[in-house]
Amino acid sequence: MEHFDKKAIDAKVAAGLPFEHRWHNRFHLEMPFGLINDPNGLCYYNGEYHIFYQWNPFGCAHKNKSWAHVRTRDFVHYSVPELSLWPTDEHDKDGCYSGCGFATAQGVRVFYTCNAKDAQGVRTSSQRFGTLMADGSVKKEEFALKTNPVGFTAHFRDPYLFKRHGRCYMVLGAQADEKEPRGTVLIYEETPEGWQLLGEPAHRLGYFGYMWECPNLLQFGQYDALLFCPQGLAAREFDRQNRYQAGYIAGHLSLDGMAMLQHTKFQELDHGFDFYAPQVLQHEGRHLLFGWMGMPDEDEFYPTRELGWQYSLTLPRELTLRQGHIYSLPARELKSLRILQNTREIQAEQQQRLEADLYPGSEVLLNIRLGQAQTLDLTLRYGLETTVLHYDRHTQTMRISREGMHQGARGVRQFRLYVDEVLSLQLFIDRTAVEAFFQHGEEVASFYVFPDKDIVPGLELTADQPLAVVNGQIWQLDAFHYGTH
Ligand code: FRU
Repeated sequence: MEHFDKKAIDAKVAAGLPFEHRWHNRFHLEMPFGLINDPNGLCYYNGEYHIFYQWNPFGCAHKNKSWAHVRTRDFVHYSVPELSLWPTDEHDKDGCYSGCGFATAQGVRVFYTCNAKDAQGVRTSSQRFGTLMADGSVKKEEFALKTNPVGFTAHFRDPYLFKRHGRCYMVLGAQADEKEPRGTVLIYEETPEGWQLLGEPAHRLGYFGYMWECPNLLQFGQYDALLFCPQGLAAREFDRQNRYQAGYIAGHLSLDGMAMLQHTKFQELDHGFDFYAPQVLQHEGRHLLFGWMGMPDEDEFYPTRELGWQYSLTLPRELTLRQGHIYSLPARELKSLRILQNTREIQAEQQQRLEADLYPGSEVLLNIRLGQAQTLDLTLRYGLETTVLHYDRHTQTMRISREGMHQGARGVRQFRLYVDEVLSLQLFIDRTAVEAFFQHGEEVASFYVFPDKDIVPGLELTADQPLAVVNGQIWQLDAFHYGTH
């Protein structure tokens, strides 16, 4: 076990802020050093949102998993991130893995997976509660489950608590121990005798990968959505193109029948290159999602690794469920990142080509009435390097290509996007992290670009025919403020 010196690590983080390197994102949560992954412990307590996330403070390997912690009231001003939970004993010596958070009258509690391996490498996963203390660290408390149940492997993690009819349940990512290991989730109910296994909710997906990670169970009115991250699915023409997926099925969860009834097909929450392990916080009727902008087992393709830090979280996204589909929009608080005097309007009619300068960090809103145009390229240009969002009206597909970038992973992602007349886009373009919202949140794509030079990007629109009308606005976005919340 590494020696986790909270004071020294916290001081080193504080010294690394605000970010200066041209590849460090200004309005995405990230760390000055180490590797971060899943958002954890999201909750709202006493006027503040608490955001924890997986962090290796000692380097960019998937080791030494601990939890970092920030607080914010508005998603713009943040406390300085701190080390909050880290391996200390035989239960979690190989990692304080992902989990959830919740508010009680006494304060914030967390619920996480303790990961331990014995001398032979045999894994034990246990699920443990803790309480956030005044000094910013989590005090480890009672265990809910000491090990995995019979019939399932020790790949048993990422507890998420939810309530139904006044009772408390949890859902966990699991793997059925069968000839071919099978990904699933398990649901437990809290009883006076402890946590009782209710079982695996039945579904109609069939065999769907060898492991499911990071489940969330959400309620949208009378509908339920089970979010999870399946591993082991093959890529298809218009989806599942990343190594691992993050998505959901929506329907009705029957706890008595232990089934997801009348559920939709599996849909991805994001179609970009860099999105995994989302967690959703439910507060005052809002569903706020944070994702990890990254991908397990692809770490070598991210060039900040050589600089000693890796990955960010996504912006908070507000989710709504309509007709079995989850829409994601940037949380409304993010509007206050806009620097109102640094803005440009775009207005054009019957143009085939348009160019606009961006800012070092930008938000772009675009409504494009296609008219006669059948194809459209929206290019993010960094000097000679480009990332292109290509829309084809015939096939109703959006294709994102990083083939024109020099550093980092390249490749293409494509997905179906239904546009009748007007293509609507909202882009958040940070130093390397880009989030694109299409058709008012119907689809989203998150991806990084690592431009060679320190260049303010430009935006170009090129169509095969004149575009009937293009309306839009560009704002410079402010950086997150740390230590001022
Ligand atoms: C998902 C995940 C979780 C696990 C955590 C460990 O990215 O593999 O299943 O709890 O990361 O860092």
